[in-house]
Amino acid sequence: MNSKSLTGTPEAFGTTKKISKVFIHSTVHGGGVATWRLSKKGSTSEAGVSLVWLWLMEDVAVWEGEGIEGGGGVAPCFLAMVSDVLHKIVSTISNQWTWWWDAGNKKDEIARAVLTISILLLSIFYYRWTILKSRNRITAPLPPGPRGLPIVGYLPFLGTNLHQQFAELAHQYGPIYKLWLGEKLCVVLNSPTLAKEVTRDKDTVFSNRDPPIAALAGTYGGVDIVWAPYSSYWRTMRKVFVREMLSNTSLEDTYNLRRDEVKKTIRDLHSKIGTAVEVSEITFLTELNVVMSMLWGSTVDSQRVDSIGIEFQAVILKMVELLAKPNMSDFFPILARFDVQGVEREMKRLLQWVERILDPILEARMEISRGEGDQEDGLKRKGKKDFIQILLELKKREDVSVPITLQQIKAMLLDIVVGGTDTTATTVEWVMAELIHKPQIMKMVQEELSGIVVLKETFRLHPPLPLLVPKRPNQSSIVGRYTIPKDTRVFLNVWAMHRDPEAWDDPSEFNPERFLSDASKWDYNGNNFQFLPFGSGRRICAGIPLAEKMVMYVLASLLHSFDWKVPEGEELDLSEKFGVVMKKSKPLIAIPTQRLSSLKLYE
Ligand code: HEM
Repeated sequence: MNSKSLTGTPEAFGTTKKISKVFIHSTVHGGGVATWRLSKKGSTSEAGVSLVWLWLMEDVAVWEGEGIEGGGGVAPCFLAMVSDVLHKIVSTISNQWTWWWDAGNKKDEIARAVLTISILLLSIFYYRWTILKSRNRITAPLPPGPRGLPIVGYLPFLGTNLHQQFAELAHQYGPIYKLWLGEKLCVVLNSPTLAKEVTRDKDTVFSNRDPPIAALAGTYGGVDIVWAPYSSYWRTMRKVFVREMLSNTSLEDTYNLRRDEVKKTIRDLHSKIGTAVEVSEITFLTELNVVMSMLWGSTVDSQRVDSIGIEFQAVILKMVELLAKPNMSDFFPILARFDVQGVEREMKRLLQWVERILDPILEARMEISRGEGDQEDGLKRKGKKDFIQILLELKKREDVSVPITLQQIKAMLLDIVVGGTDTTATTVEWVMAELIHKPQIMKMVQEELSGIVVLKETFRLHPPLPLLVPKRPNQSSIVGRYTIPKDTRVFLNVWAMHRDPEAWDDPSEFNPERFLSDASKWDYNGNNFQFLPFGSGRRICAGIPLAEKMVMYVLASLLHSFDWKVPEGEELDLSEKFGVVMKKSKPLIAIPTQRLSSLKLYE
């Protein structure tokens, strides 16, 4: 056979090697060496196709070519090796026989031939049988998808509104399809059935995140909750956050704090009556102040919290923007060290900036804990802990399964500030925009405050995280009859699912009443796979109780206290701009007018 061999670690073949024909000779996993025999004339019957592209993932080979796609586990390669060994055994046995058969007897010769042929046939049958068996086991192909260009894949065709483009591709390729973005294989899922498969049936496989480099740079390598891999570390951090900060008791304890912040906002707005205000900016600051007070309110006095808020706002928005920026380093890991677009550098610079705020707060908190600060008495009198105190206590404890460091605490604090503010502010902005667009529904809400259905309908039409947070399966698996190889980036397009005409009547229409019937069916807990604004499964949003309380409280206060309209001569724009958090393409600018009869109610 006119063949040549290539050897190397699987990673060396991990990307897109253009190969004309491939005969899988043998693969040794674990040792990490793969040998491929490239052949012009050689048999390609192992794969059964003339191959054009071949990728080898850790435990699965995936091929595509001349209109045929396929995949195979390591078993066929391993079997090729087994067949080699069998061949050697047969010839060894045959050689062994020569001393035994050397008598030259014709009968013996026939017997020898029959025996040899039988052994050969048996080997062939065994080989075929095991090949077929293994093929049946792992032959699910890769999902279909657009071809793209060599090397860059589909990258040049990506538009700015990714969620909409992904929804259009689903019309063409079906509810599950793949895209190559540079060297990154991505799979997009667009149906409740598939959502259920990855977030319920195979949740452990799909509970890892696929952090972009910007996320790693902004979280000391992913030691926060959002980007941490699925691990006991993540479990501990999430548990601490949910139990200590967002338990019913904690939320009740912090009610006054939220009330005070929202009242302050309403007072402030009242002083601006008749002038145009940016709705998301107001909500953002309110939410930020609430979250910060919960995190370090007992440590930092309220005036300082306010000034930190204004500093923080700009940096958080910049961070969220960088997370969504297409970064060549993510699509071509070989370029990562050059950081061509400077995304990593910029994120690290922002992180340093955040540290300049967080470090003194943590230091002050540690001082207080050491009993050296003047505030100790005040804190004791307040009788409650803020969240950084709980985290710092956890750091000191030796009995926790996963010891935590100061960096991890900072990553987690930042996570909560970033994860909790922009999402909430954007949601309030969308609800307000939809209500200003439909004044009769705004009236309904103001009169009977059936705000919850309005909120749900807004989440349906404008889910703040339209593609959730990308997942990365920790092993290859079959979803919707297709193989999703290990380490693929998996997007769940909830935006498309929330607008699927098969699931929703008039899906593009803002109609909160659709949520009136059987309201309990439409909770946010990820059990109804047609409606997943907070995701589903183990990695579902950790902040739902606070998010719901804050959004509802701010909305009710804005709508109860004021009437709203857009400035004269301006048209309300409801178009979307893709991002990790999906915003309005133009911020909502609106004018509040007094609604309550007594000025006292605004104090
Ligand atoms: C309207 C408000 C919010 C929305 C729509 C929202 C949505 C989401 C979504 C879709 C995810 C990813 C879920 C998945 O991948 O399946 C997520 C994760 C997360 N959210 Fe939220 N969120 C909101 C508010 C908050 C708040 C207020 C906090 C904290 C104070 C928060 C903290 C988190 C955290 C820590 C995670 C990561 C969970 C994990 O990976 O285990 N979120 N959120």
